[in-house]
Amino acid sequence: MDFRYSTAADAPRTDCLVLPLPEGDAALRVIAALPPAVRNQVERARKDGDFTGKLGTTQLLLLGADGEAPAPRVLLVGTGKNEASDKALKKIIGAVYSGLKGTTAASAQLDLAHLPGALAAQPLAERVVRFGEDALYRMDQCKGEAAQAKITPPKLSSLILTGAAAEAAAIERGIAQGKATAAGIKLAKDLANLPGNLCTPTYLAETAEQLAAELPIATRILEQSDMEALGMGALLSVAKGSRQPPKFIIMEYRNGPDDAKPIALVGKGLTFDAGGISIKPAGKMDEMKFDMCGGATVFGAIKAAALLKLPINLVGLVPASENLPDGAANKPGDIVTSMAGITIEVLNTDAEGRLILCDALTYAEKFHAPEMCIDFATLTGACVVALGHPASGLFSNDDPLAEALLKAGTDTADRAWRLPLWEEYDDQLFSDFADIPNIATRGAGEAGAIVAAMFLQRFAKNMRWAHLDIAASSWVGKKATGRPVAMVTQFLVDQAAK
Ligand code: BES
Ligand code: MN
Ligand code: ZN
Repeated sequence: MDFRYSTAADAPRTDCLVLPLPEGDAALRVIAALPPAVRNQVERARKDGDFTGKLGTTQLLLLGADGEAPAPRVLLVGTGKNEASDKALKKIIGAVYSGLKGTTAASAQLDLAHLPGALAAQPLAERVVRFGEDALYRMDQCKGEAAQAKITPPKLSSLILTGAAAEAAAIERGIAQGKATAAGIKLAKDLANLPGNLCTPTYLAETAEQLAAELPIATRILEQSDMEALGMGALLSVAKGSRQPPKFIIMEYRNGPDDAKPIALVGKGLTFDAGGISIKPAGKMDEMKFDMCGGATVFGAIKAAALLKLPINLVGLVPASENLPDGAANKPGDIVTSMAGITIEVLNTDAEGRLILCDALTYAEKFHAPEMCIDFATLTGACVVALGHPASGLFSNDDPLAEALLKAGTDTADRAWRLPLWEEYDDQLFSDFADIPNIATRGAGEAGAIVAAMFLQRFAKNMRWAHLDIAASSWVGKKATGRPVAMVTQFLVDQAAK
């Protein structure tokens, strides 16, 4: 999709004018300013009750090629009571694209000033672009040939966003960020939606190499033998139960001052989580192909940052493995030694995310000495219970970092909610035989998302660190959301502006 800014006066003629309108008399001001050919039709649609302005509804008006009409079609989109919520705006923008998809229009025009809410022009343009790419997203590559042949690609290929000339720069920045973020989200979704037999650790490594070929990103892959040499005993213990070789993916994007420490992004790249010997129940186990969404977030965010040419230094680390039951797999009670030298009693082989992440955190600290380190992981079912889909769970040992992430989430409608890391929770991590167990041994069953974060914190003591538990936000139903790529991209944009 091509998105472009224009003033209303200079906008080229498109196939469809998109006209968001509220319910009732609030619409009169906008209607009064319309060219007569459009105004008459809109008034008739309202009078006949074909269009009420109810939130998220659409009505297509066909004006034909002739006359003074600004476009052959006008798509009315209901904005309801013009309330300023993220939810309402998302519904309206979604309706714009589903309405457009229902026409044969290849190009369309939308005036940002017609969208309700209090958002400034830049974040508004960013959302219109990002939600648009989202609405047009499909994943058909696994359908058979006959089914693929029947798919008609959407006609819509260009959207002109109009706004006041004074807003031109802000809108253009919003469009650029929206496009880059959408490209990152698409990559994250494609990887996540791909099944476990295709999206393996090796596939993730190849994807990282491909990113390096496309963008100024340097990729390096650590193989099992490299991980052995580094003493990544926790990560390797998870991979032992799988026939797929583990990969430790390192992606570097350097466009900041040479001496500036990088921001490290670490993502759980567990390409399928059957639970290991502590095997999961069969129901919904297919969804554990999404257990690499943290890694996908890192891929997406680095891609977006590189597309935006942000003047920062970034390093992305993705420990990638499967977690399967096997004769060689971790057994409950096994004790492994992490790269940090901390010994871990694996009381539940299904708490594997923290095992692969702890070695990645140690690697980040030891080899990249980052300015700050943020990890992303589909870590706990408990986080799904605590927050549900609207929010990612945020944990941090650094208040300004936590605040900056929360703000970026609010600014992009890709929100997180902070949970505590109080010392009291640490008491739950007691092991009779090792330094630390991988699950709670005291107060077991309580505060599972926090206990998992407490575990990770042990390996991030010397860094400004934040952890995002994206178990609920990164996929909904059977579909990846691409979250929290938008939040991270916004965070990186904010960091670059500092
Ligand atoms: N990948 C899962 C977490 C998960 C489960 C995310 C369901 C989304 C939906 C993780 O590896 C896991 O299995 N965690 C266990 C931890 C428990 C054994 C302490 C969990 O949450 O049940
Ligand atoms: Mn698990
Ligand atoms: Zn997992």
